[in-house]
Amino acid sequence: MTSKFLSVSFILAAVISSTAFSLQPDQQKVLLVSFDGFRWDYLYKVPTPHFHYVMEYGVHVKQVTNVFITKTYPNHYTLVTGLFAENHGIVANDMFDPILNKSFSLDHMNIYDSEFWEEATPIWITNQRAGHTSGAAMWPGTDVKIHKSFPTHYMPYNESVSFEDRVTKIIDWFTSKEPINLGFLYWEEPDDMGHQLGPDSPLMGPIISDIDNKLGYLIQMLKKANLWNTVNLIITSDHGMTQCSEERIIELDQYLDKDHYTLIDQSPVAAILPKEGKFDEVYEALAHAHPNLTVYKKEEIPERWHYKYNDRIQPVIAVADEGWHILQNKSGDFLLGNHGYDNALAEMHPIFLAHGPAFRKNFTKEAMNSTDLYPLLCHLLNVTAMPHNGSFRNVHDLLSLATPSAIPHVQSTTFIFGSDIPVEYEPEESYPYFIGVCLGSIIVIVFFVIFIKHLIHSQIPALQDMQAEIAQPLLQA
Ligand SMILES: *[C@@H]1O[C@H](CO)[C@@H](O)[C@H](O)[C@H]1NC(C)=O
Ligand SMILES: *[C@@H]1O[C@H](CO)[C@@H](O)[C@H](O)[C@H]1NC(C)=O
Ligand SMILES: *[C@@H]1O[C@H](CO)[C@@H](O)[C@H](O)[C@H]1NC(C)=O
Ligand SMILES: *[C@@H]1O[C@H](CO)[C@@H](O)[C@H](O)[C@H]1NC(C)=O
Ligand SMILES: *[C@@H]1O[C@H](CO)[C@@H](O)[C@H](O)[C@H]1NC(C)=O
Ligand SMILES: *[C@@H]1O[C@H](CO)[C@@H](O)[C@H](O)[C@H]1NC(C)=O
Ligand SMILES: *[C@@H]1O[C@H](CO)[C@@H](O)[C@H](O)[C@H]1NC(C)=O
Ligand SMILES: *[C@@H]1O[C@H](CO)[C@@H](O)[C@H](O)[C@H]1NC(C)=O
Ligand SMILES: [Zn+2]
Repeated sequence: MTSKFLSVSFILAAVISSTAFSLQPDQQKVLLVSFDGFRWDYLYKVPTPHFHYVMEYGVHVKQVTNVFITKTYPNHYTLVTGLFAENHGIVANDMFDPILNKSFSLDHMNIYDSEFWEEATPIWITNQRAGHTSGAAMWPGTDVKIHKSFPTHYMPYNESVSFEDRVTKIIDWFTSKEPINLGFLYWEEPDDMGHQLGPDSPLMGPIISDIDNKLGYLIQMLKKANLWNTVNLIITSDHGMTQCSEERIIELDQYLDKDHYTLIDQSPVAAILPKEGKFDEVYEALAHAHPNLTVYKKEEIPERWHYKYNDRIQPVIAVADEGWHILQNKSGDFLLGNHGYDNALAEMHPIFLAHGPAFRKNFTKEAMNSTDLYPLLCHLLNVTAMPHNGSFRNVHDLLSLATPSAIPHVQSTTFIFGSDIPVEYEPEESYPYFIGVCLGSIIVIVFFVIFIKHLIHSQIPALQDMQAEIAQPLLQA
């Protein structure tokens, strides 16, 4: 009789506590900031007190693996979709889509064709569909109409608008009568100067100090508007930068007849579209052209780059070794710094810091994938994530409520395209979900124990005492 009462009250407690733990994710405010081309180790090149302030009162991830190709548009779109470039469709800054028969070019600001962006749905749209509002100060793609919408508030791209003016807009949107819950802030440096000077130049020091001052200005404005402790600030970037040299140039005209192909994208990943009937000739000529150039037929591109299954990836790509530059001929533009190389190279990696009510304090994490930011944002914003290539479980330990050891690392794998790359499949992704599962399992076990007890009680009375001894500690747990 007492044991029955005990078990009933235990089950009741379990049900109540599992409901309490299975709360929906928080409805948080998020400001996502990108300093273009801010390499992960710029933080240690010169004193960066404002970055270190964010790290000390927030979180820092040391190595963020971004996506191939390590260029601006592909990576900014990955941050807001959680997808690899082959899946979100922005495969380069310069593209040609043979199905649409259209070109996309960052250099000519020919990026406003919606069709290029609509293979994915960026988070500002998902946020708005959930009834929230977003505001964007020049994050790539935020002034493009995608699936018939823009961010609730946005600034048309204009590189002449100062950082301070962009911050003013963001603060206005977060403090207006109908405040946004999701903001985006983009700044072109230190990418531009990194290209011009090369990352190894001592002149990069003042450029990085200037970015640190800009972050200081942002923090000051957030504090003044009483947003510092309510908005989750995430500071990241699209890619790093590596030193180039005029001694490391690969000149395509030396190996290829320029009438045999169209060069869609140049360096360090040359995207080559051979003219009709010229595929073999072009491929053979290039395949053994230069020891620092690796040439792939589209179907041979390594799986780890997730850079194959898209019409906008050209039939042949030629990838330069780190620090090498591909030009059609010597009259082309040479850069002292560049990015776009293999995403496994540390020099291509960006920074990642965050501060706010959702994040732990003074916490350093070794590594994450940039695709993981998207499910993290969805969790913070309490919106349902679209299909993506990230994993919330790989980054939930950045959050202040999470206790990593308590989460069972359940992981099911599935295989795609006949390849042997296991793909993580996440039907649901939240910490409370796992608590719920654990407590649910306990309830089932308790019922099972009671059932056995009753069975034994009615059939083998002699064993009853022994069983009760085993069951008792469980019931009182
Ligand atoms: C999260 O969103 C759901 C609807 O999708 C809503 O019912 C719930 O109240 C939200 N949670 C919070 C904490 O805002
Ligand atoms: C593709 O577009 C170009 C103009 O940009 C046109 O000259 C060409 O005929 C088009 N090709 C096809 C197959 O439609
Ligand atoms: C870009 O911004 C600058 C500085 O605010 C302004 O003078 C200029 O008119 C803007 N250009 C366009 C096209 O709006
Ligand atoms: C360039 O190629 C040479 C010869 O294969 C090799 O020794 C060198 O390491 C390569 N450079 C880079 C940066 O990979
Ligand atoms: C050199 O390459 C550029 C493209 O980078 C091209 O416009 C130019 O015509 C080329 N010059 C020669 C002499 O082939
Ligand atoms: C952060 O952690 C370091 C050591 O890991 C410690 O020296 C420092 O005082 C901590 N800062 C804060 C604000 O807790
Ligand atoms: C990044 O993703 C890959 C799978 O795509 C996974 O194997 C790896 O553990 C992830 N890295 C981190 C640091 O989570
Ligand atoms: C990435 O995610 C997309 C959308 O869910 C999926 O179609 C694709 O197979 C995934 N890629 C990998 C390598 O898992
Ligand atoms: Zn750049």
